[in-house]
Amino acid sequence: MTTDTLETAEPGEAPGEVTRRDAMLAKIDALHAEQAKAVEAGGKYIARHKERGKLTARERIELLVDEGSAFLELMPLAGWGSDFAVGASMVTGIGVVEGVECMIVANDPTVKGGALNPWSLRKSFRAAEIAERNFIPTINLTESGGADLPTQKEIFIPGGRGFRDLTRASARKQPTISVVFGNSTAGGAYVPGMSDYVIMVKERAKVFLAGPPLVKMATGEETDDESLGGAEMHSRTSGLSDFLAVDELDAIRQARRVVARLNWRKKGDTDRVTDYAEPDLDPDELLDLIPTDLKEPFDPRDAILRIVDGTSAGNGMPFDEFKPLYGSALCVGWARLHGREIGILANARGVLMSEEAQKAAQFIQLANQKDTPLLFLHNTTGYMVGKEYEQNGIIKHGAMMINAVSNSKVPHLTVIMGASYGAGNYGMNGRAYDPRFLFTWPSAKSSVMGPAQLAGVLEIVARESAEKKGEVFDAAGFQGIKDMVEAQIEEQSLPYVLSGMVYDDGVIDPRDTRTVLGICLSVIDNQPIEGQMNFGVFRL
Ligand code: COA
Repeated sequence: MTTDTLETAEPGEAPGEVTRRDAMLAKIDALHAEQAKAVEAGGKYIARHKERGKLTARERIELLVDEGSAFLELMPLAGWGSDFAVGASMVTGIGVVEGVECMIVANDPTVKGGALNPWSLRKSFRAAEIAERNFIPTINLTESGGADLPTQKEIFIPGGRGFRDLTRASARKQPTISVVFGNSTAGGAYVPGMSDYVIMVKERAKVFLAGPPLVKMATGEETDDESLGGAEMHSRTSGLSDFLAVDELDAIRQARRVVARLNWRKKGDTDRVTDYAEPDLDPDELLDLIPTDLKEPFDPRDAILRIVDGTSAGNGMPFDEFKPLYGSALCVGWARLHGREIGILANARGVLMSEEAQKAAQFIQLANQKDTPLLFLHNTTGYMVGKEYEQNGIIKHGAMMINAVSNSKVPHLTVIMGASYGAGNYGMNGRAYDPRFLFTWPSAKSSVMGPAQLAGVLEIVARESAEKKGEVFDAAGFQGIKDMVEAQIEEQSLPYVLSGMVYDDGVIDPRDTRTVLGICLSVIDNQPIEGQMNFGVFRL
């Protein structure tokens, strides 16, 4: 390693420092405003819900998790930009219950009665995927009007997967718990039905395949909510409920007892976790260093040294860079985060060339050889284009990197810090490459290429098409289309849009990156990390 690889910008020296901080703080304020929309999504129904003596979804979670522990909320902006409320009528995240990291999925009954829309489905499927891949128990805090009826065609068929996921989790020895606080009708009845442990709140839980009006219509039978699906009935008569809770607080207390009796232990190699020091450089300085204008370059080492563990007795250097003199547009190396070893791949300059792709492929193999998780930090405009690069094999070298990312079996974490364009998004382990967790900074943008480039390409195609037809290309007239496309792509590549579509697990304040990744790495340790060396054919 050369010493100069660790020289980083001094925040005080960076020109335009105030501007960068101000610009990033403005983006973070905007993020908080969007997140507040998820908290307030129920609007007037929140007061009605409380008047009924009920806790909100977030209050239930707060009481469920261990006092003073962090709750890592996931996908809070799901549904952003759609016709549905931000948050998609549910709250999900990882919380620590009786010392056990659990996936918590809570319906928000103040938003359309907790009915599930297409975005709720995406969010709940992703939550189930995270629980499965990280091997953690799931707690459902159930109170939902079932399918969002106006969009039933988009959710009825795929929605069946929710129940399938619950029983498959059970079969994998990943316990599932359902605490029923209210309505859980029709398909929703299978959430407790498929769960390993069920707790129902007296005089509140209502679990039936069809409510009294539908039963009357179907069979003519006259019945009432309580005898058809009340908590007492299910606890004493049908046996669907394992525990009868006298009220919501009692239900949460009982859920904690169930988790305490799971006899859970982390199966990962926790012996390898060491003591650690906080970063040598202050994470708050990320605000001064990270430009919100993606055209301005920044050195990812400035970010890395404010995210990873600092110098300590067991950790001589915070970041040991690998191959620093080769393929320098991609910075790779080893660090520790909350006492856990990780490999980091970070774009140092926007573009990826053959050397960078080959270096990445080698580094990913090394991480697999030593069973070490990888962290991908995106700021890339994609792979280099042009005759020289094509002739030197940029496609096969990019493919080599994508091959390594695709077949790597160590856990991957991804943070989109800045640009994430084109196949660079794939090679750097974008959403389609199954990172265990993927977070975005408020300054990030992702799309097939930059908006201006995309609009420019469209113009060239239109011009050539006109010429082929022998027509005169109306450049002035096309400018309007070009501007519109550019604005549209600009908007579509914003983090809220992508987060709204559940293409990430959340947009985070850069200063929280270390804490968020620390929680993720701890969750990952619920099962052993086993890399592998079988990568298919590398086209050399
Ligand atoms: N799909 C779409 N919207 C629904 C819905 C559903 N399944 N369930 C409730 N909503 C809407 C209501 O239309 C109402 O909308 P509005 O504010 O625009 O008028 C809002 O959610 C609140 O509903 P409300 O009935 O006032 O709430 P509640 O807390 O008193 O009762 C339920 C909640 C879920 C018990 C009740 O709405 C209900 O029984 N819904 C139908 C459940 C059902 O049969 N689902 C079929 C599943 S396949």
